[in-house]
Amino acid sequence: MLAIRLVAEPERLDTLVLPLRPAREGAGDDAPAAPVPTAVALPDGVADEAAALAPAARSTGRAGEIRTQFRPGRNPGVLVLLGIGDGEEGSWRRAGAALVRAVADETHVTIALPPDASPAAVRGIYEGLLLASYRFRLTDAGGVPALTGVDLLVTDPDRYGAVVETARTTARLTRWARDLTNTPSSVKNPEWFAGQVAAHAAGTPDLHLRVREPAELAAEGFGGILAVGGGSAHGPRLVELDWRPADARTHVVLVGKGITFDTGGISIKPVPAMKLMRKDMAGAAAVVAATVGAAALRLPVRVTALAPLAENMVSGSAFRPGDIIHHYGGLTSETTNSDAEGRLVLADALAYAVRELRPDVLVDLATLTGANAVALGKRTGALYSENDRLAGDVLAAVEAAGEAVWRMPLPADYVEYLGSDLADLYSAPNQGAGSVVAALYLREFTGELRDRWVHVDMSAPSWADGDDAELTRGATGWGVRSLLRWLDTLR
Ligand code: BES
Ligand code: MN
Ligand code: ZN
Repeated sequence: MLAIRLVAEPERLDTLVLPLRPAREGAGDDAPAAPVPTAVALPDGVADEAAALAPAARSTGRAGEIRTQFRPGRNPGVLVLLGIGDGEEGSWRRAGAALVRAVADETHVTIALPPDASPAAVRGIYEGLLLASYRFRLTDAGGVPALTGVDLLVTDPDRYGAVVETARTTARLTRWARDLTNTPSSVKNPEWFAGQVAAHAAGTPDLHLRVREPAELAAEGFGGILAVGGGSAHGPRLVELDWRPADARTHVVLVGKGITFDTGGISIKPVPAMKLMRKDMAGAAAVVAATVGAAALRLPVRVTALAPLAENMVSGSAFRPGDIIHHYGGLTSETTNSDAEGRLVLADALAYAVRELRPDVLVDLATLTGANAVALGKRTGALYSENDRLAGDVLAAVEAAGEAVWRMPLPADYVEYLGSDLADLYSAPNQGAGSVVAALYLREFTGELRDRWVHVDMSAPSWADGDDAELTRGATGWGVRSLLRWLDTLR
């Protein structure tokens, strides 16, 4: 991970980055964007040169715009003008992301922040730099990036201690969630995933891990997890990771769908739909990463992550369409389609949380349906809750974090689709509104927490087809940033 320092004195000025603000509104169309004053004195003539470069390079100052001037034989040798748009946190995040790509071939850069840089601005650029420089590598092919160090020049580095710690932890754990999600399923089976959680949780006081193996799942009645995991040579697991600080007044349970590969099972997926199904544990990755993050930041909230992990395979021991599943807590499902497996494992975990953990709030994240992208496109998760206040709080946290969700309805009229002649519930009614109906199904398992529950279908934003701002091609680590923001409001 890129080493970022906050310093009051420039140590090296090989590549110097100066922020650029758009012309003030109403200043006229040809008013040039202007470099912002810097916290620290620059070498003679550099400020004037930057002021002249901005109009000559037709800079607009919009967030993430880059203008580069090479100055061979002089110091700094490279001068970069970096657009910061409205100067809000999201614009700084975008600017940091664009910059880290633009200077990838330099070894070290120094960014001169304005003297009044807010903690939010520092958080934005810090996260942008760390998230956009992420690369997933199983091997060293492609070499190591040249850029290893970034200095942020500020007047008073001590002012930003807390925000730097938060930004660093948030980015580090988002990157971990990306790693987990990008990992091929030949490596990533339920046991492996649980082992990764153990490795990341080890040594943190008040952070406790319990991993249930198939025999324990059977003894306690986790029928959904066992059914979905039954077709795989790699047995299912239930990860329970508990951050339990002494000063907690609120208890949140975070449930994440952890299908380490989704073939669809006997209701097998066609080739194109199966291609990326190693990402079907992105919800589990987000909840365990957010919980490790809450512990690392010592947030005064009890957070329990539950990750039901299973590989949905096709084999002689796979569950079949039409089977009746006995979930934890006693409800039964008629399966109908083995590709609707996520809700079956989540049902067990939700019911367990409600009966045994009795939290104040229950949140689940799941790559649950292709219908999420049909309704909302590639960037936006679908949020469901009966609780307006809770939904509003989560929506605000998601937006502040730079992610996106749209609140969806839980229509009473559709509940009847869940009726089955053979079981309590029909798991996959084929009546349209796939993401909505899946949410209605999950709600049946929330018991007395029904109005303190939030479900996010994050199938779409869990993956990026290409690099874009702070996202990198592949797994996005979606949800880690949003969950940590929201947990931080519960203190
Ligand atoms: N893991 C998939 C959903 C998915 C699709 C996630 C595309 C990410 C991208 C899920 O298990 C699934 O197969 N859902 C079915 C449900 C249907 C059988 C009721 C779907 O969406 O088609
Ligand atoms: Mn499926
Ligand atoms: Zn799935």
